[in-house]
Amino acid sequence: MKSTIVKTLMVCIGLVTALACTDQKKEINYPKTDLAQVALIPKPLKVVPTNSAFGLDNKTVIFTNQNAKGFKEVGEFLATKIASRLKFTVPVNTSTDESVERIIYINQTDTLASDSPEAYQLYIKNDSVLLNARTAAGAFRGIQTLRQLIPEHSNDTLAEQPMWLIPTGKISDAPNFEYRGAMLDVARHFFTVEEVKKYIDILAYYKYNAFHMHLTDDQGWRIEIKSWPKLTEVGGKTEVGGEEGGFYTQDEFKDLVAYAAERHIQIIPEVDMPGHTNAASLSYPILNGNGKALKPYTGTRVGFSTFDAKKDTVYAFLDDVIREIAAISPSPYFHIGGDESHATKKNDYILFVEKVEKLVQKHGKTMVGWNEISQAKIDPSSVNQFWNEPHNALVAAENGNKIIMSPAKKAYLDMKYDTLSKHGLNWAAYIPVNDAYNWDPETYVEGLSKESILGIEAPLWSETISNSFELEYLAFPRAIGYAELGWTPAAQRDWADYKNRLVGQVPYMNYMDINFYRTNLIDWGD
Ligand code: ACM
Repeated sequence: MKSTIVKTLMVCIGLVTALACTDQKKEINYPKTDLAQVALIPKPLKVVPTNSAFGLDNKTVIFTNQNAKGFKEVGEFLATKIASRLKFTVPVNTSTDESVERIIYINQTDTLASDSPEAYQLYIKNDSVLLNARTAAGAFRGIQTLRQLIPEHSNDTLAEQPMWLIPTGKISDAPNFEYRGAMLDVARHFFTVEEVKKYIDILAYYKYNAFHMHLTDDQGWRIEIKSWPKLTEVGGKTEVGGEEGGFYTQDEFKDLVAYAAERHIQIIPEVDMPGHTNAASLSYPILNGNGKALKPYTGTRVGFSTFDAKKDTVYAFLDDVIREIAAISPSPYFHIGGDESHATKKNDYILFVEKVEKLVQKHGKTMVGWNEISQAKIDPSSVNQFWNEPHNALVAAENGNKIIMSPAKKAYLDMKYDTLSKHGLNWAAYIPVNDAYNWDPETYVEGLSKESILGIEAPLWSETISNSFELEYLAFPRAIGYAELGWTPAAQRDWADYKNRLVGQVPYMNYMDINFYRTNLIDWGD
């Protein structure tokens, strides 16, 4: 029993770089639609419209390369998203049903122009969508584009079997930066697993690939360490404002890691040290290096706490902590913080960073630290996260380190939009939505070359926010712009054009129930 779909599929599989699957059936008279007019964020590298449409409906099936690692899962992810939004089921790699009329084929290929593992091509024709990607990560980025191409409404909402018309054409796309991250501070305020998952899900839609979790700070320790249980029994109990804190068990953390991995997002755990360690020292006073009596801290000052950089016990402790977290954390990176250690003597700070780098490497990870770590002599393989001191980034680049660009004045999601903002701080700047978009990570630090830049990350510190509603107020819509800064080259970014595409995100943001900030810099059309 060979249906049209199976024959079509066989034609597809036979193709390597061909434009699309051969149409097996007579042309359906679809209304014209323009691929170039769809509000895609991040903006793809190249879009060539062919002004017709692919009809997505319950007669569509998804096929994937069955022996290409992770491709089936990408197909299943797309099917799940179609089912939850459009309320019909699209089978994956199973259908031989005669009623099948159109296919989405997710194909592994090594022949894309870009050598980025996240590159993809979409060829959309009347009867078929062919998504070519080198890796499952590339295929996953491609299906986000496809999701964004699905219109808000079907051709006829009253029809029994409505059809969603996806404009035809060709998209060739690849990211400008290999690292596109967001950070959430779960230490100042704790965020539940469900809240974190919702944020990750939205980030995935905009092609982020890294989620950095700031797991520890003066106000709270948020991850279970089995060999040092008081970290969470004592250090997990508090948060800013004196409310009850919380922590992730290792199983919960693993669940988050797996959830992110399904979205081709790596989770980078951060244990901030030697400063920002009041909660750890409160749990185990032997770690404390500032000589002062310890008490729970629920305020928002920084720079008063430090580990004792001269004590062997501190390194034995960190060996355990890094070992336990590294074991449940597949990301190649482990973030050691290293910022604002004002209570640590400079020589102690340098000694500490150099010793901790060795521990991170011992457990198979590449160290990441905030820009202050470049004061130490660190391995060229380690990564420096620039936030406030260009000189540190330049020293790091000179040392051969890659830089993650997170300038507080431009990329800190916890900065208020303007004086009227309900949440946020303003010590670095007010960052209205246009300022968040209108800067270039490649030229922001004078003298830093693109070769030294790993990518961009938008940190969200949580002194003033404590739940998804407040998180989303600060993160959106700015985090959508940072996605484009990470993906789309500067020459193709334009605020006027972006603004229109951002308005096009409102249906998705409403569908996801995102509490985004309706800045009056943008005409939201309501
Ligand atoms: C930082 O904002 N202290 C990295």
